[in-house]
Amino acid sequence: MATSINIKNTSKNLGNYIFSKIPYVSVDLGTTNTIVYIKGKGVVFNEPTVMIRDLRNGTIYSYGKSALIIEERLNRNYSSIRPLKSGVISDFRATYEYLEQVILDVFPSTKEKGVFVMAVPSRITKLELKAMKAIAHRLGFPYVFIEEEVKMSALGVGVDIFSNRATLVVDIGGGTTDIAIIASGNVVSSRSVKIAGRYFDEKIQKYLRDKYLVNISMHFAERLKVNQLDLTLSQTDERAKELIYVYGEDVITRLPKKVKVKRFEIVKAILPSIRRIGIEIHALIESAPAQLVGDIKRNGMFLAGGGSLLLGLDSYFEEKFKLEVSVGDAPLTSVIDGTMKYDDIIAERLSDYENWLALEEIYLGGY
Ligand SMILES: Nc1ncnc2c1ncn2[C@@H]1O[C@H](COP(=O)(O)OP(=O)(O)OP(=O)(O)O)[C@@H](O)[C@H]1O
Ligand SMILES: [Mg+2]
Repeated sequence: MATSINIKNTSKNLGNYIFSKIPYVSVDLGTTNTIVYIKGKGVVFNEPTVMIRDLRNGTIYSYGKSALIIEERLNRNYSSIRPLKSGVISDFRATYEYLEQVILDVFPSTKEKGVFVMAVPSRITKLELKAMKAIAHRLGFPYVFIEEEVKMSALGVGVDIFSNRATLVVDIGGGTTDIAIIASGNVVSSRSVKIAGRYFDEKIQKYLRDKYLVNISMHFAERLKVNQLDLTLSQTDERAKELIYVYGEDVITRLPKKVKVKRFEIVKAILPSIRRIGIEIHALIESAPAQLVGDIKRNGMFLAGGGSLLLGLDSYFEEKFKLEVSVGDAPLTSVIDGTMKYDDIIAERLSDYENWLALEEIYLGGY
């Protein structure tokens, strides 16, 4: 007994030793934002997942924050590219090009590369997973670990994912809402729905177009969502009747237009989408074994991702599910915060990397 503990400790120490000698980089490649963390340096990149290609020569003209600023004002020589759509990697070449720019930006090309942890959507196919690993290796990282985003997110907002008692986690990002029941370090069951931040923005756009014949940009719709939405408002509240000015383009004449809308209308535009997320959460709970449902009642629900910052969302779900709902302190960085807390597990895998690769191959089904 004592011997086996010693061996375990020795191999763990070996992992920790390797780990201390090589850089540890983790990436949350989100539909809306990409965040990069380097151990010892902290978060070194936190910018939109968007880039602009110069169509005349195929090169990348801009990426991240600066690309977002010019995205809606491009002439026909340029095209805006979002490598991920609704949480799915829609363009692997663009994903590689984007990550290449980002890594070049934050990591000196002369420096030896080490561990690369990439958080990806839970519902990614095995083939896509392999493609992501290949991308990370091509970026020069010898040790690559691909992790489920929702698991990292849960860890990041403070869930004890290794406990054998189940916890319900809802990560509302820009492209997808991932709902998962996590226990003993694994995602026991999950659902993913393409209703999240950008979808809410589109619903605001559509509402204003249909009702007031005004076209607004996605950026403006997002600002309305972030600054004006309050899900605790009821139609009869005084604040619900406050007027907001909306600027855009007349749908018919194409001329600039300003309209006044009641604050409650923003709630009205988004509420059906929130209800649909509620239906998905309900379906996942319903399909879970009674024991897990009991655990969820005890542990409550954890919200993560930028969409969880919607004002009043926690009270909405509390009321609907009669569960205690917690929102993390920093839901926008929950995935990356999770990868920071995962280094012990990574060190353990590094201590026996060959064996881990073999296990992973079995897990991936030998593609
Ligand atoms: N204060 C806020 N209120 C409401 N929504 C917010 C707020 N701040 C950010 N958001 C929304 O959060 C979304 C981005 O969240 P996040 O960075 O978690 O997504 P992502 O990880 O890029 O996407 P995904 O996980 O779906 O691939 C955007 O749609 C943004 O509008
Ligand atoms: Mg995310």
